Amino acid sequence: MLARVWSASIVGIDAVKVGVEVDISGGLPGIVVLGLPDSAIQESRERVKATLKNAGFAFPMRKIVINLTPADLRKEGPCFDLPISVGILAASEQVSADLLGDYLFLGEVSLDGTLRPVAGVLPIAANAQKMGIAGLVLPADNAQEASVVQGLAVYGCKHLSDVVNFLSNPGRYKPVQMDDTVETLHITSLHSADLQDVKGQAHARRALEIAAAGGHNLIFVGPPGSGKTMLARRLPGILPPLSFAESLEVTRIHSVAGLLKNRGSLVRDRPFRSPHHSASGPSLVGGGTFPRPGEISLSHRGILFLDELTEFKRDVLEFLRQPLEDGYVTISRTKQSVMFPAQFTLVASTNPCPCGYYGDTIQQCTCSPRQREQYWAKLSGPLMDRIDLQVAVNRLKPEEITQQPTGEASISVRQRVQQARDRAITRFQEEVNLRCNAQMQSRHLQKWCKLDDASRNLLEAAIRKLGLSARASDRVLKVGRTIADLAGEDELKANHVAEAIQYRTIDRMQ
Ligand SMILES: Nc1ncnc2c1ncn2[C@@H]1O[C@H](COP(=O)(O)OP(=O)(O)OP(=O)(O)O)[C@@H](O)[C@H]1O
Ligand SMILES: [Mg+2]
Repeated sequence: MLARVWSASIVGIDAVKVGVEVDISGGLPGIVVLGLPDSAIQESRERVKATLKNAGFAFPMRKIVINLTPADLRKEGPCFDLPISVGILAASEQVSADLLGDYLFLGEVSLDGTLRPVAGVLPIAANAQKMGIAGLVLPADNAQEASVVQGLAVYGCKHLSDVVNFLSNPGRYKPVQMDDTVETLHITSLHSADLQDVKGQAHARRALEIAAAGGHNLIFVGPPGSGKTMLARRLPGILPPLSFAESLEVTRIHSVAGLLKNRGSLVRDRPFRSPHHSASGPSLVGGGTFPRPGEISLSHRGILFLDELTEFKRDVLEFLRQPLEDGYVTISRTKQSVMFPAQFTLVASTNPCPCGYYGDTIQQCTCSPRQREQYWAKLSGPLMDRIDLQVAVNRLKPEEITQQPTGEASISVRQRVQQARDRAITRFQEEVNLRCNAQMQSRHLQKWCKLDDASRNLLEAAIRKLGLSARASDRVLKVGRTIADLAGEDELKANHVAEAIQYRTIDRMQ
């Protein structure tokens, strides 16, 4: 007998409906899987065999052919365990096949029949809803993640026998409701980090505020122990919360990366990712045979923090150039090419030289000019060109160290950031996909960053003196726009441009 069960596979951050056809016929007992399965699906042959027996069902000792359609799409992962098991049960008439076509099945099954969560449930649920599937049957631990999608009935099951019971009488079961109290918190500990713990460093705090208000990339340069890491970790606390639409975008990426399983329904916090400097290119930008999002996509709509930037491999850093400009990354494989969104704010920190004390007021730098040159050469011109705010963080004065911190708390800084962002959003009303000043293109600059004579003279002088590229001077204008927004002003004035220019001076001084 032939049975057909619906399931889905992930391509990039989208889902494709996959048909699982199971045919049981006479012949030598055996089981084959056709339709470009990966090794995890091949393994599921043996898993399903043991599972069905352990869960109290009969495994048909006949020839079983499983075909995954469409045939030209490579399919991966253990999420086909459940549809394959259900297909075999239906084809061997152990479960009714009448309602199979109405549902989409997804889930890994362990040897005792327990369902285990899988990655990529949110895009699959969104796709199922669009295709008019009546309901999604999946592991209970994935149910909250899928319940975010409106207009789709989601049924969470703990065991294979629950699925069989469900199919015998679906009317008895209630779909899962989204539980608003279950949230995914990635950065709980970072939220408790408050800017009011930071002593001194007014210049760096101001830069953080500008970065948060306009989504600008930022680098802190300074001697060891001056507070660079401490400051950077306080950026999420002054960022406005994600909107619902942004939350969905972020959750989709985290879902595909398998980070959500049983951890709630929606990512509500802005991501803050801090990969170690030993990170490889694919782990940073994404990759793999079945391309998965990398750190830059996991920090979409949030922060990518590269601490000790100069310790990263140079070629790995070079990978960042294109996504920093475009806000997405394309990963090409022979059979497919996928695009992952990557609109993140880059925050980096580094010492000014190998010994760490170049330009310090107390400790002497022991590096030769050649060593310093080599050190900076690692941060190529094109990468630094894309960093809008280059900030020197100097060591604290003795009297600052011994005093209590007196700085403003994150919550009041966040209010100003929110106001500046609101101002920008109002301005961008008629633009699609423009959410903060850092995302403006040249034509937007012509519209919203008109220079008066004084500002133009200032910028021209800076271009000449600092050798700014066209890109760098555009970025100065964007930062200037954010500074004006923070001041609540519609016109870009010379003092805004002047402040923006001083954030471009570090890499020219080495
Ligand atoms: N401005 C500051 N206010 C309060 N504490 C500070 C400040 N700067 C440094 N500290 C203290 O010093 C510790 C180390 O700071 P942090 O790790 O941020 O330094 P860093 O500049 O990143 O150094 P490195 O270059 O070695 O990474 C902090 O955890 C904090 O306890
Ligand atoms: Mg540090």
